[in-house]
Amino acid sequence: MPNRSNELAAWDRDHFFHPSTHMGMHARGEMPTRVIGGGEGVYITDTSGRTSLDAFAGLYCVNVGYGRKKIADAIAAQASELAYYHAYVGHGTEASITLSKMIIDRAPKGMSRVYFGLSGSDANETNIKLIWYYNNVLGRPEKKKIISRWRGYHGSGVMTGSLTGLAGFHNAFDLPRAPILHTEAPYHYRRADRSMSQEQFSQHCADELEKLIVAQGPETIAAFIGEPVLGTGGIVPPPVGYWTRIQAVLKKYDILLVADEVVTGFGRLGTMFGSDHYGMQPDLITIAKGLTSAYAPLSGVIVGEKMWKVLVEGSDKLGPIGHGWTYSAHPICAAAGVANLELIDELDLVKNAGETGAYFNAQLAKALSDHKNVGEVRGEGMLAALEFVEDRDERRFFDPSRKVGPQVAAALAERGVIGRAMPQGDILGFAPPLCLTREEADIVVERTADAVKSVL
Ligand SMILES: Cc1ncc(COP(=O)(O)O)c(C=O)c1O
Repeated sequence: MPNRSNELAAWDRDHFFHPSTHMGMHARGEMPTRVIGGGEGVYITDTSGRTSLDAFAGLYCVNVGYGRKKIADAIAAQASELAYYHAYVGHGTEASITLSKMIIDRAPKGMSRVYFGLSGSDANETNIKLIWYYNNVLGRPEKKKIISRWRGYHGSGVMTGSLTGLAGFHNAFDLPRAPILHTEAPYHYRRADRSMSQEQFSQHCADELEKLIVAQGPETIAAFIGEPVLGTGGIVPPPVGYWTRIQAVLKKYDILLVADEVVTGFGRLGTMFGSDHYGMQPDLITIAKGLTSAYAPLSGVIVGEKMWKVLVEGSDKLGPIGHGWTYSAHPICAAAGVANLELIDELDLVKNAGETGAYFNAQLAKALSDHKNVGEVRGEGMLAALEFVEDRDERRFFDPSRKVGPQVAAALAERGVIGRAMPQGDILGFAPPLCLTREEADIVVERTADAVKSVL
């Protein structure tokens, strides 16, 4: 439908303010409009009929793959039965109550309650408020600062954009705001001292964290937030021993741990939660994306028992908690979540993420780790990344203006596979749907090798 496509492209340029998009280039028509019309399994199809293997699952969220009728039917049934009722003052629906039980049944030990939001950003906003509330109830109003990591990604609101440790999300927005602080990224490949082993680098990160806490005054530090595996900051699994050493420091100074599992929650690492994978014992867990596989917008904060007791004490003192949104625990989204978690179990997708993810990572390493411009091939479960460098031996990075990462991603897209040029550094990321098969993994690897060789 060429006329229809041209019309949509014109409306898009003239009316649609896209997130994370170069506004000028888009408005001037210097970048193509791609209108996605359908999806099935790991493939999406645009309205010109072109199909691509989506090896980033949208934005690492369509974990069960596209076109799952079970979830679509659950959404339709809920919409006709009861499209909406709020969750304030103790109201619930069968879907929202069932989903909260299913989440706690799957969560790491010691988790107590689920608060529902709509996005990863708003869930982390809730976390910040709960952390402040907790310390106010405990009578230590000065304990409010939150430490995040450079290269962490926790959203793009005012406070969650502050937690995020990527310059592109701070520029010209007057972020980060107090009381958010950042510490070293657990990024072994980019360590300043290249003689450090993984374990030594983990200790170095823990030491840096402790120095920051002591310099600020431990009585002012409330919490530490981190993704089990750095995601948008470069898809970087932590160096060996990282979480054990970090948690020892947090315990010493009575600092809460928030595990941001928006990407890793519900199976991506081959375990239900990344916290289980790395032996983390968080006080709060952020969930979103994989909770509904993005069939409907839903996020959540899983609150641990220690915090829950204090929150209850707070409402006994202060009355009902002054926090909530019209769409918290929206029944249509909750119904999508119930069907999605059932599907993950029925299809054994957590196991597949571990097994096929390991195969995918191994094949990617086999195909590309000897390439002169591939500095590192890394990954965990159904997450993988290639980091491109100008000189491997010297670990000299490309000048960012050359946009090597985006060029490789574009060459891959021309070959019918979607990977993501990560926003900081020349890094090509993969986060395929958890239902990826070995044959599909082979396609991604083969086309990636071809794309890399064509650009480099
Ligand atoms: C780890 C992490 N936390 C939070 C967010 C923010 O989620 P949302 O985009 O739904 O606000 C993201 C989004 O990619 C994320 O990767």
